[in-house]
Order: sequence, then C-alpha cells, then structure tokens
Amino acid sequence: MTAVPFGAMQLGIRLETTDTEHRVAATPSSIGAYTELGFDVQVEAGAGVAAGFPDSTYADAGATVVDRLDAVDVLLAVSVPHADVAALINPGGVYVGPLDPEADADLVTSLEQRPAAGVAVERIPRTTLAQSMDVLSSQATAAGYAAVLLGATRLPKFMPMLVTAAGTVPPAQVLVLGVGVAGLQAIATAKRLGAVVYAYDIRPETKEQVESLGGRFVDAPTQEMDEGGYARAVDEETAQRQREILADVVAGSDLVITTAQVPGRTAPRLVDADVVRRMNAGSVIVDMAAGSGGNVEGSEPDREVDVDGVTILGPTDLASRVAEDASRMYARNVQEMVARMVADEALHVDPDDAVIGPALVVQPIQPEGGDA
Ligand code: NAI
Repeated sequence: MTAVPFGAMQLGIRLETTDTEHRVAATPSSIGAYTELGFDVQVEAGAGVAAGFPDSTYADAGATVVDRLDAVDVLLAVSVPHADVAALINPGGVYVGPLDPEADADLVTSLEQRPAAGVAVERIPRTTLAQSMDVLSSQATAAGYAAVLLGATRLPKFMPMLVTAAGTVPPAQVLVLGVGVAGLQAIATAKRLGAVVYAYDIRPETKEQVESLGGRFVDAPTQEMDEGGYARAVDEETAQRQREILADVVAGSDLVITTAQVPGRTAPRLVDADVVRRMNAGSVIVDMAAGSGGNVEGSEPDREVDVDGVTILGPTDLASRVAEDASRMYARNVQEMVARMVADEALHVDPDDAVIGPALVVQPIQPEGGDA
C-alpha cells in the first residue's frame, strides 16, 4: 500500500486535445470533490476547451491552471498518453486512465521504473458495487448515441416517417448488431429519431431488452453468455448461420450500426462483403468494432470506404464526438475511483480493494516492512 502525506497531494489533469480526442478526464464540477479529498488540482492549460470547459471554469472551481503538470501524486487521463508522462508522477503516486499491458507496454515499463502504480480504468470490475466507476459503460453509451447521429447525417433520407403535402415518406430502417451498452443506446436513439429498428445479439436475454425499447429482434442463433456476462465466441457453423439469417435484414436496411465484441478477441464478422453490395446505394454502415477487427468485411478504422454507393464508416472516436457529456460521465467514474484510493488523510492504493485491485496493471510500491 502506498502512503503519501496528506496536504502534499497533487492531482493532475492532462491536456489531451488531438484531432480525435476532445474529452478531458475531469470537469470543473469534479474539482470540488478532489479538493475535499485533500488534493491540490493542477489542470494543464486548454485541457477542457474542446469539451466545452474553458480554463477559467477550472480556476473558478479552485484548480490551478498550469502550462505543464509538475510532480503530481495522481495523474488522470482519458486516452493513453505517451510513456514519458510517468516522469510527471511523484514516486509512489498513481496513474489512472486507459492502460493495456500489451498495447501500452512502454507506459507500463515507465510507471514500473518510476515507480508509480497504474490503474487501468477499463479493468474496473463490472459489478453492482463498481457501477458508478464503469467507464466502459459510460463511454459506450456516448458512442452508441453518436454512432446513430453520425449515420443519420450521412443518410440521404429522413429517419422518421413523414406525411406531407409533398407525399408520404416511409421511415428509415435501422439494424443494430450487438446489443450491449452501446447497442442499447443506439436502438433508443434510432427509435427517438423515428426509424424502424431491428436488432440482434448472440445473448438470448437481449431479445426482451430490444423489444422493451420498441425494436424488433432478428431471430438468428443465440447462445448463453459466460460467467462474466459477456458473449462467448461462436463456432464457424453458428457464425455462418448468423450471417445467412442476417443477410436479408442487412440488405434491406438503410443504416446498419454494428457493435459486436467478444472481450480479448478479434470482433466477430457479422456482415460479408457480398451482403454489403446487396444494400441500396446511399445506405450507411457504422462499424463500431472497426478498431478491433470489424464486424463488417471491408471496414477500416477511422476510414470511410465506399462499396458501390454504400458508405462504411469505422470511427474509433465516437465518444469524443460528444465530448462534453462523455467527459462529464468519465470524470464522475474516475472521481469515484480516486475517492476509493484516499483514506486516513493519505493516498492508499490498495491491491486488495475489490474494485481497484483487479484494475491494477502496475502494482503500487510496498512500504518497507509493510505487509500489503
Ligand atoms: P461488448 O462491447 O463486449 O459487446 C457488445 C455486444 O456484442 C454484446 O452484447 C455481445 O453479446 C455482442 N456480441 C458478441 N459476439 C456477438 C456475435 N457473434 N453476434 C452478435 N452479437 C455479439 O459488451 P458491453 O456493452 O461492454 O456489455 C456486455 C455485457 O456486460 C452486458 O450486456 C452485461 O451483461 C454486462 N455488463 C454488466 C454490467 C453490470 O453492472 N453488471 C454493466 C455493463 C455491462
């Protein structure tokens, strides 16, 4: 367990504005909570601007706006930083942000050398106890919403049915594949826009969820989930049957949103190239799994692909496209995590904590003679 004397604790919020990252890890409304926990908060100038939070709003909330963070005990991030940020963290401090031990090996090494602990926010267990810290859910909610709006603005059609003096316009048909957190929000958003929505997921319990949102469940094969509540990978025979049953629904849809993921694996292929070619010209596919292999043959991360007039989009920055509210939710998630790491007027990163422990990709240093 790491202990930093109370009163000296510094918490840093990075400037992360890039072409694709507009979110920020803490909003002005979270500064008060950090101050109450005993932190002095440093905010890198411009950190919240792209999310709609100017520097003055952080200063008004009690943070210090700095050109560059310096000697912080807790460093917050919303997207993976360069490994050299470890040098900004005091030895014994903690990094809280995305951290994949394989993909971000350099950052892991830098934290270990510092030494500073590394909390991977995406590894917080998705239990009832940790619901308020579930960044995967909060950011998938933002992404599912943004995916539908992106698709809708690219369609050369209305989403709702319109009865006008110039004729009756039928509603758009939207298909959502993968009904996890993002998929549910995509269904709800498409329904609010007035589309006719079809949806499918391999987990059977999603049928009821789809119908409760006013969607129609596509009867392709389903199978029970694993103990963690996640989908299992399907065998090739089942995958083939899925694609066959889905083919006609995909071909008849104006907008297809795909969100299917199996943790730790390449995303399952749900739509083949020949089915894309059967869609009407002008139709749009938003493949939310493009960054992890894609659900749609031919989709590419952060690229736009045209297949005989059908547009396939593979955005990996969807949550960032609603940066203000995505940041608000992320900030709240992370604030709850940090609160669990402060006790007895000091920073305590406890490997035995039921929520923080499983997310510790880099373990905190052990005090000499300490037992935890
Ligand atoms: P995800 O991003 O890992 O996957 C998205 C969806 O793709 C899932 O619904 C999955 O069943 C589906 N999928 C995977 N393979 C498929 C295939 N071959 N064909 C069709 N669909 C396929 O999932 P997400 O959104 O992170 O959540 C997954 C589940 O985790 C939730 O539905 C829920 O059961 C559980 N969860 C639990 C929470 C809790 O508080 N206990 C909070 C959030 C999620």
